[in-house]
Amino acid sequence: MTIYNLGSINSDYFYHLPNLPLAGETLAAQDYKRGMGGKGANMSVAASRGAARVMHIGAVGQDGLWAKNRLLEYGVDTRHIAIGSIMGHAIIMIDPSGENSIVIQPGANREITKHQIGSALSEASSGDILLMQNETNQQAYTAKTAKELGLKVIYAAAPFEAKSVADILPYIDILVLNEIEAEQLESSCGQVLQSLGVDHIFVTHGSRGGKHFDKLKDKTTHFDAIPVKAVDTTGAGDTFTGYLAAGLDRGLSFEQSILLATRAAALMVKRHGTSDVIPDLKEIEDEFGP
Ligand code: RIB
Repeated sequence: MTIYNLGSINSDYFYHLPNLPLAGETLAAQDYKRGMGGKGANMSVAASRGAARVMHIGAVGQDGLWAKNRLLEYGVDTRHIAIGSIMGHAIIMIDPSGENSIVIQPGANREITKHQIGSALSEASSGDILLMQNETNQQAYTAKTAKELGLKVIYAAAPFEAKSVADILPYIDILVLNEIEAEQLESSCGQVLQSLGVDHIFVTHGSRGGKHFDKLKDKTTHFDAIPVKAVDTTGAGDTFTGYLAAGLDRGLSFEQSILLATRAAALMVKRHGTSDVIPDLKEIEDEFGP
């Protein structure tokens, strides 16, 4: 099957700092580098590295042709990436403990057209997956169209915006959030996650693992994290979601897919960077065994 990922593609600028800046503070970076990122691109790369067939739906500017080519090199189908005004970018500040603060400028990520969505999804079949995050436009239209075509919809509610989640909630089959996003969603809806009507909800708790709420089985399962020394948590959540989608797309069970996604994310936090350093299946197996 195929994962259709409506997702952002950014140029990521990484600054390693002695601490995350306070209001009014000016800091000199100890290190700087640039790479490909965007929550969407990170998930496409992760799913592709997790051995899924991935079609990315998105947009860059002429200044982002390098990223479109790089996605292709990483095995992602890029035929439905349009060329818009300017490429989105992200300023990523990382402190010595590996925590980050991120500012994004969406650029072409918010210029995706309905025509583009229709043309990409005209290639989809029932049983394929639509994957999305909250860094592009056209999310509600895409989720509705995908659902009508019989696709399974996986949504990572990051960066969190109550209205974006509310607009697509009726179409979501699998919702992935971190614990802060989960709290924000519960307080914006005024109800607990389990009563939102979504079949599967995954809440990740960083180094404390996470929870899977399975509405169909009326069951909550805790999953463990893998203890590692994190140097940079940027993109770890995207890696988790991309690998989770890949596992499910390949017919693995939820338990197997969670284990694979957890291992991928554990390896990812030991690395500096985003799309360009997402581990592949062999690296995961070399580290953790089959
Ligand atoms: O989740 C990490 C990603 O968030 C970065 O790659 C950055 O581009 C922002 O989208």
